[in-house]
Amino acid sequence: MNEKQEEKELSDLPFRNQDLDIEQRVNDLLNRLTLKEKFKLLAGRHRWETKPIDRLGIPPFLMTDGPHGVAPHSSGGKECTYFPVGICRAASWNPELSFQFGKAIAEEVRDVGSHMILGPGVNIDRTPLCGRTFEYQTEDPYLNKKLAVPVIKGVQGERIAACIKHYICNNQEKNRYTYSAEVSQRALEEIYFPAYKAAVEEADVWSVMGSYNKINGVYGCAHKRLLKDVLMDKWGFRGFVVSDWNATHLIDNPEECIKAGLSLEMPRAKHYKRRYLKEAYSQGKFTEEELDEDVRRLLRVMCLVGIFDDPKTLPRGSRNTKEHQNLARKIAEQGIVLLKNEDNVLPIEMGQVQKIAIKGTNADRELAEGGGSSAVKPPYEITPFKGIQKKGGNKIEIIDDVSEADFVFLILGLDHEEHNDVENSDRESLELPKDQLDLIDEVSKTNENIVVVLINGSPIKMESWINKVKAIIEAWYPGQEGGHVIADIIFGDINPSGKLPLTFPKQLADSPAHITDKRYPGNEKVFYDEDIFVGYRYFDKEGIKPLFPFGFGLSFTSFKYENIQLDKTEFSGDETLTVSLDLENIGEREGAEIVQLYIQEIEPKIKRPEKELRGFERVFLNPKQKNKIQFEITKDALSYYDENLKSWTVDAGKYKVLIGSSSRDIRLESNFNYKE
Ligand code: BGC
Repeated sequence: MNEKQEEKELSDLPFRNQDLDIEQRVNDLLNRLTLKEKFKLLAGRHRWETKPIDRLGIPPFLMTDGPHGVAPHSSGGKECTYFPVGICRAASWNPELSFQFGKAIAEEVRDVGSHMILGPGVNIDRTPLCGRTFEYQTEDPYLNKKLAVPVIKGVQGERIAACIKHYICNNQEKNRYTYSAEVSQRALEEIYFPAYKAAVEEADVWSVMGSYNKINGVYGCAHKRLLKDVLMDKWGFRGFVVSDWNATHLIDNPEECIKAGLSLEMPRAKHYKRRYLKEAYSQGKFTEEELDEDVRRLLRVMCLVGIFDDPKTLPRGSRNTKEHQNLARKIAEQGIVLLKNEDNVLPIEMGQVQKIAIKGTNADRELAEGGGSSAVKPPYEITPFKGIQKKGGNKIEIIDDVSEADFVFLILGLDHEEHNDVENSDRESLELPKDQLDLIDEVSKTNENIVVVLINGSPIKMESWINKVKAIIEAWYPGQEGGHVIADIIFGDINPSGKLPLTFPKQLADSPAHITDKRYPGNEKVFYDEDIFVGYRYFDKEGIKPLFPFGFGLSFTSFKYENIQLDKTEFSGDETLTVSLDLENIGEREGAEIVQLYIQEIEPKIKRPEKELRGFERVFLNPKQKNKIQFEITKDALSYYDENLKSWTVDAGKYKVLIGSSSRDIRLESNFNYKE
């Protein structure tokens, strides 16, 4: 047969038939594979892809790093849009924006020729020191899932696979290859699972990445209970599990991974070497059914992304488009958080200032290409300095002498060097670097109009300097358009509206993971003894005042909350309770408020957080505009995981609904009863 005939013959095979049901296609393909070929498919090559099987025309399945832009190291060095990092996007509390982001990043993945993005990253921010806090979203499980689901839907709508990571309890980078998260079932259910569960149940995520660490003594990629029993059987995951890169190395043998449901060992075979698999198989250590199940999942995702389909029928890719750049800018506009604004110094009226000074390590620093696997190589990056300079044009002079300046902008924060916001190491303190503290000190001696702009991805301690500065803008790593947005906020073209997706503690010792060394950094074991009291749940319980609470962020306008109404005072079973309120913009500027709904059980039978986020809405209002906001509550919002019953449950009793502008700024409340 010549090449043409061969191609023709291959293209006639049922698994290539786009009109057939996907399971039929998968089964057809699976049945054509020899044992050897199945083994071959289970491990990667060249760091970012699976091995092709030419006989059947199976091409490599290509993966690329994310989560906030397609990474150069896994896309042949290509330039791609650098979106704001995960925590910045999360601070927008905007699911629709997360959807658009997912769609855009998938278009870039398609354009570089890949099939899967290694993101979103959704590990809970358990400690403010975690080196990857910037990549993740939040300390709160509800916000986490509400933002993860639309990202995945956006990505997969383009027929690109999303790979949610890192399953599970990879909440620190220190000792990440070896530690065991000693965590209760309740904390798993209430805090750590929700984003993954929703990713499966609500977004049909096509891939999950197994973490490096152990969970209660078993490695993530060999965790039969958490992978097979929970993820697959209980939640109904139909995609495939891929190992984090080299995460299988300390696992004892291949059969553990096969039986747990690990379909793909990356970046290359260690346990899934053909000869090891052959040996284990011939010794009966796993069955062909077990093997088939793992292979089937990978083949299914290959079909889902259209690897065997006519490329003309697939969504089109695009990269670095104006649209993506505008989206990067929009995410920063909504995700940057104004933390302090004494005497309403911001926004600065153009024309009222002549001279400004811009200082600080991060003033003109490009940071896209750092951080580890999340690095991006953008076509350009607008630094804060460039953004402010451009905006000031010839109306504002940038001078060197801080004592002569009308305003001094100190652009501070962290970077992606070791022990900062970076993979594979954690921060060692909450403080800004010493030279930055000295700079604030020095500048404050001659100028009182200091505006600090923070470029960083995790909480900063501010006690020693917060009173020396007038305003603080938490800009995170705001992506390639970030500098423009910072300038827009400073000069009032954008009214800041982001809210913190995690607590900023006053000091590390206030943080629940830092009560003892057993909790953090731990050793071989890291004890999650704070249990469900992660983030604000702990600060509330202990009555500790944080530096800035979960859900906090200032605006240039103010909002009035009034007229809370519940459509009933008692509800039961599967009924819905409707909560409404009026929100009015009572300031002079248009702006967005993020209205937060928390639930409290008034006399709980078991220990429960004082309040838990169960709803939120980003509302944009013009000056004097008033809108009715409505939330629907079902019993799910009241439920908790009962370790005795081994299931989620709701207790009949009294509850409170709390409506706040932050978790510590509750504006309205009302009680209701739940009856079984
Ligand atoms: C990281 C993953 C990443 C992978 C591939 C690992 O070290 O933990 O998040 O996707 O490398 O770069």
